[in-house]
Amino acid sequence: GTAVLAYSGGLDTSCILVWLQEQGYEVIAFMANVGQEEDFEAARKKALKLGAKKMYIADCKTEFVENFIWPAVQANARYEDRYPLGTALARPCIARNMVETARKESCTTIAHGATGKGNDQIRFELSCYALNPEIRVVAPWRNPEFVKNFPGRGELLDYAAARNIPVSASKKNPWSMDYNLMHISYEGGMLENPANKPLPDMYRTTCDPEKAPDTPVYLTIEFKRGVPVKVTNVDDGHVEDSPLALFTYLNKVAGAHGVGRIDIVENRFIGMKSRGVYETPAGTVLLAAHEDLELLTMDREVRKVKQALSVQFCTQVYNGMWYSPECEYVRHCIDKSQENVQGKVNVKLYKGNVYITGRESDYSLYNEELVSMDVTGNYEPHDAEGFIKINAVRLKEHKRLKKAFQ
Ligand code: ARG
Ligand code: SIN
Repeated sequence: GTAVLAYSGGLDTSCILVWLQEQGYEVIAFMANVGQEEDFEAARKKALKLGAKKMYIADCKTEFVENFIWPAVQANARYEDRYPLGTALARPCIARNMVETARKESCTTIAHGATGKGNDQIRFELSCYALNPEIRVVAPWRNPEFVKNFPGRGELLDYAAARNIPVSASKKNPWSMDYNLMHISYEGGMLENPANKPLPDMYRTTCDPEKAPDTPVYLTIEFKRGVPVKVTNVDDGHVEDSPLALFTYLNKVAGAHGVGRIDIVENRFIGMKSRGVYETPAGTVLLAAHEDLELLTMDREVRKVKQALSVQFCTQVYNGMWYSPECEYVRHCIDKSQENVQGKVNVKLYKGNVYITGRESDYSLYNEELVSMDVTGNYEPHDAEGFIKINAVRLKEHKRLKKAFQ
């Protein structure tokens, strides 16, 4: 039969492309452009040379920003309070485009080069099954025979040499990377020891905060329904107001100021902890600005409910459950909470930090007169006395009990 292979152009998926043909498959290569730096035409040539019947390159950039990154911004999504989910958000987008390609080719077999230990296999496959229940998956890195033949990189290189698979001249990075518009992730190799400091020249999109410009940059970010609609550079007047362009611009400016690096240990769905280093420049700025605007415009109790939903959302996305009933429901609720999250936030980017310097909104719940120390406003200070006393009832009871058992 025919298989659509998620092809990256690298050593692993190039060997898999050839191996699948040796197993009797006709292979259609598929590559998603999610904003990674890549010579797509060279990858196309390589796939065709290795025997792929066709090569699809899907431009997923706008879809990725609007349908996946924007809901994550609305959610203030940080898995385990840290990781902005760059890879986890891209997988369901890539899978959707891949399933569509397979359908065009009347093919129901999908192959990928994710390992058997990670999150990506889960995200790819759950997304594919949810979108097309007929899908069959071929995952060579879970095939015992394949794994026995290729216990390490050396065997892959031998196989490549024997089959005339070109291996890029540049030495492979001693860590694994995943690159898209939202982030670059680095895992494996020397990073597997969580005590090891990443090498300074590993980073691709952010400059070392210490080497960032001594002059900050000031931006105004405008949101509608919790989603950025316009970015203005206050210093030079530069404006971007389309989703992809403003996100790309923010990546450039924030990256130049060293914003968005994190180094964490996280819990994989599969049950093991892993160490990851990430750079997420635009995402880090947008999350900070969006969180600030929510505090200005959102009701306190709605915000609490929404925070709990955000934790659910992060787990669902991380675990590959984007196309699940619970994640659709949570996205719907979070979107509802964003009705009044509209306005402008001023930010200053300086040496790796995002400083909020001001905000304004037509939907602001901030009441200057009500909060002012100088005017009474529509508020009776005397009422606070009873409010405090009633709240103290419970605390006094607690103290009584503590005393009794002392
Ligand atoms: N640990 C991150 C995650 O699970 C990054 C995964 C990177 N994937 C990769 N194929 N290099 O989302
Ligand atoms: C992989 O195992 O393929 C990459 C890491 C991950 O998916 O978590």
